[in-house]
Amino acid sequence: MTEVRTVGVVGLGAMGAGIAQLCVEAGLETIGREVTAELGETAKGRIAHFLARKVEKGQLDGQERNAAVERLRLTTELSDLAGCDVVIEAIVEELGAKLELFGELDWIVAPDAMLATNTSALSVTEIAAATTRPERVVGMHFFNPAPLMPLVEIVRAELTADEPFERAYALGERLGKTPIRCHDTPGFVVNRVLIPLLNDCIRVLDEARVSPEDLDAALKHGAGWPMGPCTLVDLVGIDVHVHASEALYEKLREPRMAPPPRLVRMLQAGKLGRKTGEGFYRYD
Ligand code: 3HC
Repeated sequence: MTEVRTVGVVGLGAMGAGIAQLCVEAGLETIGREVTAELGETAKGRIAHFLARKVEKGQLDGQERNAAVERLRLTTELSDLAGCDVVIEAIVEELGAKLELFGELDWIVAPDAMLATNTSALSVTEIAAATTRPERVVGMHFFNPAPLMPLVEIVRAELTADEPFERAYALGERLGKTPIRCHDTPGFVVNRVLIPLLNDCIRVLDEARVSPEDLDAALKHGAGWPMGPCTLVDLVGIDVHVHASEALYEKLREPRMAPPPRLVRMLQAGKLGRKTGEGFYRYD
């Protein structure tokens, strides 16, 4: 199996920045691509901040931290990813945007490079079909916040070949994660369960006329969740959650999959959670 040396990460939002952080911490040369230089710098600043916190807490050596930050090169040009052994896509959860990106990456990277999507609920098989090498496309689904959540789902699409699938699994391990192998079904493993569950929680807000604070307290203290559902949806992003719900509902047609109207209204109002400073809660 080809050893992975250079990783490209396309899209440096919360997920992409988290994935890039994992890559540089694992000693991989990493090229992060954002649409503007400012967005790239913001992501790099965020990574530098979290790594600095690790130094302050004695979890990382100061020199190692500086070397890790140095390993992240930023670009706005997709063509700069030409030398990558692996490219991980973490852009907006819209099928059209992903198809266009994979179509472009197809002629930029080497024929034996592996292309991975971090999609939450779209079909990896459909994304792979935008390329002339669907056998080299896999899903690598990380969880938010990527640097802290141990799981990565390694998703085998209809035409994925063994070598890239195992390369993705090995990369997951190298990034310090607990990878699992699964097939390309709607929502894979965790989101198939978690998205309808979170939607039920949001519906309970109105049904039981309970406040977000009390709902969060209920699930934390009555079901042992590490954070309450409203805090979690704010963290994931209302937009990401609604898009994932719509994608699952479109495929499985179960009413629980459909996004609750309350979340759709929040999305329309631009209350996207932590990323916009307001969701169920306010963030300064
Ligand atoms: N990136 C990097 N580092 C981060 C970070 C981030 N986004 N957020 C926090 N950290 C670092 C910080 O440095 C922090 O230390 P500091 O406060 O001293 O600076 C350190 O991590 C620890 O943070 P916390 O004290 O907040 O850690 P907790 O022990 O409270 O755990 C948690 C945080 C792991 C997020 C825990 O609350 C948890 O497990 N929550 C559930 C999250 C979850 O379910 N995620 C899955 C969402 S679904 C999903 O992603 C699928 C998608 O497809 C929709």
